[in-house]
Amino acid sequence: MNRRQQEEEWTRDGGATSIKGPKALMWSPNKWDSCGGTCKESIYAILTSGDRSPYIVASRLRLPNAGEGLRITIMNIRCARPNDLMNMQHCNLLCLPENYQMKYYFYHGLSWPQLSYVAEDEKNKIVGYVLAKMEEDSEDDPHGHITSLAVKRSHRRLGLAQKLMDQASRSMVECFNAKYVSLHVRKSNRAALNLYTNTLKFTISEIEPKYYADGEDAYAMKRDLIVFAIENSICPADSSAFVGSRSTEDKKKMIEDKKE
Ligand SMILES: CC(C)(COP(=O)(O)OP(=O)(O)OC[C@H]1O[C@@H](n2cnc3c(N)ncnc32)[C@H](O)[C@@H]1OP(=O)(O)O)[C@@H](O)C(=O)NCCC(=O)NCCS
Repeated sequence: MNRRQQEEEWTRDGGATSIKGPKALMWSPNKWDSCGGTCKESIYAILTSGDRSPYIVASRLRLPNAGEGLRITIMNIRCARPNDLMNMQHCNLLCLPENYQMKYYFYHGLSWPQLSYVAEDEKNKIVGYVLAKMEEDSEDDPHGHITSLAVKRSHRRLGLAQKLMDQASRSMVECFNAKYVSLHVRKSNRAALNLYTNTLKFTISEIEPKYYADGEDAYAMKRDLIVFAIENSICPADSSAFVGSRSTEDKKKMIEDKKE
């Protein structure tokens, strides 16, 4: 197969001819490996552990010129392991004023080992994490909580936070039947607010005055995981308890309402 044919195949398979800004594509990383050559652009392949499809995040990439040579950085998003916890704490210290003692990381890791995820680069260095848990003392529906989320500056705007959050949310549904996930965010944190509101479809449930140690207010936010699960064909731990008595029509309507 010559280069032209290869490019056409990529274009056809990928379903895109040019990409403006970082964006996720479904792709097999082996195809990209084959292009070689000198480095003109960087692309990031983001893999998720398990059998889910890999994601390629392309940075200013034009597929018809792909054969010119690309540097491929493989990122991996996987469940956090006990020996990741110190590196997650390090990433937290670099990125956020809200820091926690090591025992709090262990509490999360030991109690809900399925829910926290890390993003690692090709040298297995942790560049982002989400620390998540289930709410324990709740009489409400089962629901998860995001304790902390951060991505190092060097790896921002690649879609890592979105992917970390989606992975944690998926596991909350698959393992614990969580119907929603909650979090707190500073009123002034524009990047995180954009991520939660526009990308992940969280909504503000209340304002908690002076929530943070320095006196700043927090937005308490929630994401509906029933809608998320239906949209992404996620199988909950207990299907009947998850959607309750809602009919298929109700569920479809919920998704339509959410889209509007
Ligand atoms: C907030 C944070 C986790 C986002 O991580 P990220 O990996 O860069 O986010 P993503 O690439 O997944 O961004 C997804 C979307 O979120 C929004 N977003 C992310 N960063 C943004 C920024 N700086 N400004 C505006 N919108 C932003 C965008 O809509 C973005 O989509 P786009 O790139 O297609 O426009 C990261 O900036 C960070 O670690 N900040 C410091 C720690 C922090 O604030 N954590 C949250 C505490 S509640």
